[in-house]
Amino acid sequence: MLFSVSESVKAIKPYEAGKPLSEVEREYGIADAVKLASNENPFGCSPNVTQAVVSKLSGMNRYPEPIPFTLCQKLAEKYHVGMENLVIGNGSDDIIALLAHGFLDPGQEAVMPLPSFLMYEISVKTAKGVPVMVPLKDFSTNLDGLVKAVTPETKLVFVTNPFNPTGAAITRDEFIRFADQLPDNVLIIVDEAYIEFVRSDSVYNSLAVPLADPRIVTIRTFSKAYGLAGFRIGYGVMDKAVAEILNRIRQPFNVNSLAQVAAQAALEDTDFLSKAISGTHKGLDFLTQKFSEAGFEVMPTQANFLMVDVKTDSREICEKLLRKGVVVRSLASYGYDTFLRINAGTDRENQICVDALISAAGK
Ligand SMILES: Cc1ncc(COP(=O)(O)O)c(C=O)c1O
Repeated sequence: MLFSVSESVKAIKPYEAGKPLSEVEREYGIADAVKLASNENPFGCSPNVTQAVVSKLSGMNRYPEPIPFTLCQKLAEKYHVGMENLVIGNGSDDIIALLAHGFLDPGQEAVMPLPSFLMYEISVKTAKGVPVMVPLKDFSTNLDGLVKAVTPETKLVFVTNPFNPTGAAITRDEFIRFADQLPDNVLIIVDEAYIEFVRSDSVYNSLAVPLADPRIVTIRTFSKAYGLAGFRIGYGVMDKAVAEILNRIRQPFNVNSLAQVAAQAALEDTDFLSKAISGTHKGLDFLTQKFSEAGFEVMPTQANFLMVDVKTDSREICEKLLRKGVVVRSLASYGYDTFLRINAGTDRENQICVDALISAAGK
């Protein structure tokens, strides 16, 4: 190519998204495929969302609100924070990228677990920063390892709670001990994309207590428990000085009008949210039981997905499942060659997945 690509961008491995259903159906000539690969909400979204979005459609000739006022007001109320503590993003991916661009100078470091949600590494490298990766310990975040990896060049530390892809979670006590050991000038990014699904009382929840530590930046999303992945909307809760930086550099209209009203309506429908969460828990329990009975090892999870050791090449199993119209995620690219990640689906999807996996693995 004639144009010289930035060295840090050359080093980026592209994000491998789960195949969309339409693509699987086209490629494999099947209909009605079951997708349990992207940790999406299988129950759809609140009917109030559909209504709100339809009523908004007539106003789409107008730009969206640069800061979605009503949504921010509702979030501020929910978490007892000020509107100035919030940044709304085009998915939480957007908030991750803004943090990297806002706080890293070239060569500065962002410490994160290995493996991690790939957008941390991509955003850091795009911002010309250096990702410093700390391998997991027993499938969980190695918090002591993250602390040890911090240098005077470190500006950001990422943790994901619960962790994707293992489903492990950090307890309150573990987090407090961890944060106590980090310097004052390092932002601690706590990605809580799956926090709504947590079942254990001891798991750390950064918004359960009033904002006190200016280093902590919470990232949350409407893509999972609220079922709005296609709208692309997430948010960050943080010290107002940090929020001011992100708001300064984000695109002025980063969140489209439909996503804004969808998120607002989704927040109001707590009944849908509880049903989606309890449906997910029921699905996880069913999958755990059936997979364990079939002789697979299932890791405990606090999220909406499970990591399953199928004890054979998981890429091959994935391919066989695709032919049967079931899309799950092989974790071979994360270094877990015999593991799949499967999110809970509807009762019907879960049963189809169990039958297909048992047959694909020759059980
Ligand atoms: C840990 C984690 N963080 C962030 C995201 C991104 O979510 P969003 O759809 O809000 O960009 C995901 C999506 O899968 C995720 O797993």
